[in-house]
Amino acid sequence: MSLFNLAVLISGSGSNLQAVIDATENGTIPSAKVALVVSSREKVFGLERAEKHGITNMVIDRLDTEKLMDMLKAHNIDGIILAGYLTVLAPDVITAYNGKIINIHPALLPMFGGKGFYGIKVHQAVLASGVKYTGATAHIVDCGVDTGSALVRGVIPVSPDDTAENLQKRVLEVEHKVLVKAVKALVEGNLDELIKSPLTLVNKDDKEGILEYARELMELSNALNDGKFVIAGNACS
Ligand code: GRF
Repeated sequence: MSLFNLAVLISGSGSNLQAVIDATENGTIPSAKVALVVSSREKVFGLERAEKHGITNMVIDRLDTEKLMDMLKAHNIDGIILAGYLTVLAPDVITAYNGKIINIHPALLPMFGGKGFYGIKVHQAVLASGVKYTGATAHIVDCGVDTGSALVRGVIPVSPDDTAENLQKRVLEVEHKVLVKAVKALVEGNLDELIKSPLTLVNKDDKEGILEYARELMELSNALNDGKFVIAGNACS
């Protein structure tokens, strides 16, 4: 059986890339391989990680959609993972790989997502808001920013002592777990089930956490009904 070829797009350290590579190599996702790593930035550590695993890697300017499409085709890419890729993909790429592109976001979408919510800013906003829970979301990429269907979320408590920096570190560990679950579903053709019922990973010892998270979801759903937020899948026109 031929392997499902993944392209992973990065802009930085590539710890999420590493989680995906490890999952394909340690038997968690045996039917896929990372066939291509593309960085929007030069000399980032993620490129070294790819090199170490013998994976074709390159820097492609974030505006050079033609080159990106050529490389995806040349490497017979079946699905794309955005793993800390600090760029909005061009509609041509999203249309060509419709429903086969996954992004990892460092918050519980639809909270703290959209334009301006990237990097440390996400965690600063989480702390400023006073929410008690945060986490990570793997979702389908559509033509909006962080608007595609959620697939897997992972939840962790925010502690009163948290700084944005240590929250970022703790969330990053959750991102790795969440992303691997979503990539496995993509590779094994099970995304539709997750779109219908997204998975939420919580620490089973944190019973209060589960309740608190449920309360936050209720508040969010009330806010949605009040029209404070809009969630919509964004088709590529
Ligand atoms: C992650 O927090 C990701 O969610 C964000 O950028 C960071 C990338 O980390 N968008 P890494 O490059 O995977 O280590």
